[in-house]
Amino acid sequence: MARILVTSALPYINGVKHLGNLIGSMLPADVYARFERQRGNDVLYVCATDEHGTPAELAALEDGLEVAEYCRQQHEIQADIYRRFDLSFDYFGRSSSVENRELTQHFCRQLDEQGLIEERTTKQVYSAADRRYLPDRYIIGTCPHCAYEAARGDQCENCTRVLDPTDLIEPRSAVSDSTELEVRETRHLFLLQSQLAGRLAEWLDEQSDWPILVTSIAKKWLKEGLHDRGITRDLSWGVPVDREGFEDKVFYVWFDAPIEYIAATREWANQEPEVRDWRSWWYEADDVRYVQFMAKDNIPFHTISFPGTILGSGEPWKLVNFIKGFNWLTYYGGKFSTSRKRGVFMDRALEKFPADYWRYWLMANAPESDDSDFTFEFFTSGVNKDLADTFGNFVNRCWKFAQSRFDGVVPEGGESGEAEQQLARDLDAKMAEYTSHMEEMQYRKALSDLRAMWVLGNEYLTHAAPWKVIKEDPEQAAMIVRTGMQLVRLFAVLSWPVIPSTSLRVLAALGETDEIPAWPSGSAADDLQALTAGTPLGDLGILFRKILPEEQEALEREFGGAPD
Ligand code: MF3
Ligand code: ZN
Repeated sequence: MARILVTSALPYINGVKHLGNLIGSMLPADVYARFERQRGNDVLYVCATDEHGTPAELAALEDGLEVAEYCRQQHEIQADIYRRFDLSFDYFGRSSSVENRELTQHFCRQLDEQGLIEERTTKQVYSAADRRYLPDRYIIGTCPHCAYEAARGDQCENCTRVLDPTDLIEPRSAVSDSTELEVRETRHLFLLQSQLAGRLAEWLDEQSDWPILVTSIAKKWLKEGLHDRGITRDLSWGVPVDREGFEDKVFYVWFDAPIEYIAATREWANQEPEVRDWRSWWYEADDVRYVQFMAKDNIPFHTISFPGTILGSGEPWKLVNFIKGFNWLTYYGGKFSTSRKRGVFMDRALEKFPADYWRYWLMANAPESDDSDFTFEFFTSGVNKDLADTFGNFVNRCWKFAQSRFDGVVPEGGESGEAEQQLARDLDAKMAEYTSHMEEMQYRKALSDLRAMWVLGNEYLTHAAPWKVIKEDPEQAAMIVRTGMQLVRLFAVLSWPVIPSTSLRVLAALGETDEIPAWPSGSAADDLQALTAGTPLGDLGILFRKILPEEQEALEREFGGAPD
């Protein structure tokens, strides 16, 4: 039994996440965690809300709430949605936890002891009206290059030039529009990343099996040269900096957020301290395989910054063993946008269809080697063709026939023959491919293997035609329907990582109530014997309903399709 630690990039606290966020990190991590659990491995999947940073503070301000209270509420909202999406976190924590405060401060002390922290004086814009320092992007003004009037202090959106807030003409606060801004000198802690470049490069070179998407982004960053990085900010919301002269400062959100992976594990262990050992997952944990899931914008932070923190600490903390990175899911060819509320958000998605519809479509169309596009047309066709017409239809055919002709039980009698042997051989081949694609986290391929198995089931049934055979040879028909039921069971087990709720519904109707259905043996001849003849068939109803053309159009109108 292997020990596998799984994390997915921590969703920002502000705002319900959209389908792009889901497929870029949490959903594939969940599928992977489920698959490895099914195979009997000891899996720990942790995630958390990423709660610090200016966007959270400003969102709280807008809602008229204290930021701590805002985060408490938003955490509950997100946790509830993830539960309803069947994301099987072992623990879903919060980066504002006490555990994270302790660990973040610990890492800073360690880095300091290793000579990797330096105090430097920097210039920062202070807004008297807002009574706070403003991060660069919250200062807006006229671009000195193109005269665009709403350029941000870090970059002009119009001409894409990188800016310094002091470059802006007539600068003002994006929070209050106040022009009462002054530049103040302030002390900050810098992590001397430049000194870690050699060790990071060496470590990255050892990761020969990582996806190219991941290593190419990491290497590009290394090649451009690692800059020392300010890891503190003049804000009040965040992990406090425990150092003299830093009483009013907190750590930069990107410093404490990845440390929350460790802290969330500690939060998890603190729920049952006698039996759970967080350190065994993170400290001198050579027996643990650690896999991270994230979208491509997160890759630099997970291949450079966080490993830098770990390596620089001089302590034997766990480094990631494999990173699965994703490209973007687009929405009608454009961007999903949280700020402009463009796209399908997870709460609204569940108002329309059960989680499994979304889970299946997203995994089947995961933006792995390239970006992929969401439209209601693609979604409808995937759900209708694969879920309703292929998997759902197969289950339905077997079920109905057994109910009308075999008293609603798995029928007894008859001997399997050449057709069943051929079926077993075809399944063996597909199952082996499916299993390796799941191991390799090649999800588009894995889902097409799964689909191919569903198709095999339908083809078998069509050729074997029990509804004809039953007239001449009821025993033979019984054997065919029993084989069909064995396939239903096998498909349910194999589909569990992707569509867990439907899978458990089918298995429960077959009298199986394991929370985690064990992965098949891998020999179809054996797997097609798993159900005992005489097993009663429970009520199942329609597994997946078809989405009608008028419904698709209504969704398009409601969610707004074309990019604006
Ligand atoms: N909140 C970040 C995002 O959504 C991800 C943080 S991942 C962590 O892009 F590792 F830093 F926590
Ligand atoms: Zn410009």
